[in-house]
Amino acid sequence: MASTFGRVRKAVIPAAGLGTRFLPATKAVPKEMIPIVDIPMIQLIVEEAVRAGIEDIVLITARHKEAIENHFDYNYEVEDTLEKKGKADLAEVSKAVGKMCNLISIRQKNPMGLGHAVLCAEPVIGNEPFAVLLGDDLIDSTVPCTKQLVEIFEEQKASVVGVMEVPADEVSKYGIVGGKMLTPRLMDIKQLVEKPAPQAAPSRFAIPGRYVLSPTIFQCLKETKPGKGGEIQLTDGLQLLAERERLLAYQFSGTRYDTGDRLGFIDATIAYALKRADLAPGVKEILKKHLG
Ligand code: UTP
Repeated sequence: MASTFGRVRKAVIPAAGLGTRFLPATKAVPKEMIPIVDIPMIQLIVEEAVRAGIEDIVLITARHKEAIENHFDYNYEVEDTLEKKGKADLAEVSKAVGKMCNLISIRQKNPMGLGHAVLCAEPVIGNEPFAVLLGDDLIDSTVPCTKQLVEIFEEQKASVVGVMEVPADEVSKYGIVGGKMLTPRLMDIKQLVEKPAPQAAPSRFAIPGRYVLSPTIFQCLKETKPGKGGEIQLTDGLQLLAERERLLAYQFSGTRYDTGDRLGFIDATIAYALKRADLAPGVKEILKKHLG
């Protein structure tokens, strides 16, 4: 029997947003399918979850996003053709993605906000803890960020959000946490503020998009009133959660890329290309050429 603070086996990946910051690319192609080099962003996110021990991935999706489900399925036509042509290694690259995880998708029929998207997962998650990973944020780290959070959750028996320290002039771009520091990296959250002015920010710890939550969050989200733009905000649900249960913030180790932003996307593309032994020398030459 799964329990509220038991092992974390499931993850929710909300991917039902409109992706307007990436128009026109996202007119017909889901933002999550845009690749960093040759791997769709969503695959990098799923890989992080799988490396954290997650078995079931609940994808919150929307109309015109079938490409994501197809990506994690087998593509018999491509794989069979490659095998017949003697390209078994390439066929395996395609098949491996199909084998990666057990994907369960749920439609969010209207984009009513991130909190609402998470609430859509309740029928599949039930009374179990779960991770949430946002596809807009890539976190490159030796120990996957979600694994770092799962370890804190299982050790502390408390929900935990991943945070990173940002400069004072950037706090207004994020949800910011405030509370009591338990260790230099761990905070007992008392307060969450969405996009505060620098002087109103309770700390410089920002939430980029990684969480491990107890199922109590569902009840909190049901009681959360729509905020900005009529959307149900996850941050508001988390504030309620912090009033009912212990909610921690953990400063994870790793480099975070905001791939929902054009420059962040370019930064991630260059960084991930430079990490690839087959591409790094060529990429360095290209960069030298452009920089003169
Ligand atoms: P964002 O607002 O950053 O993403 O939501 P977006 O709506 O896709 O993109 P822009 O801002 O229009 O360019 C953060 C995450 O929450 C999901 C998005 O898919 C994204 O992964 N989301 C947001 C939902 O699943 N449902 C929603 O109603 C809102």
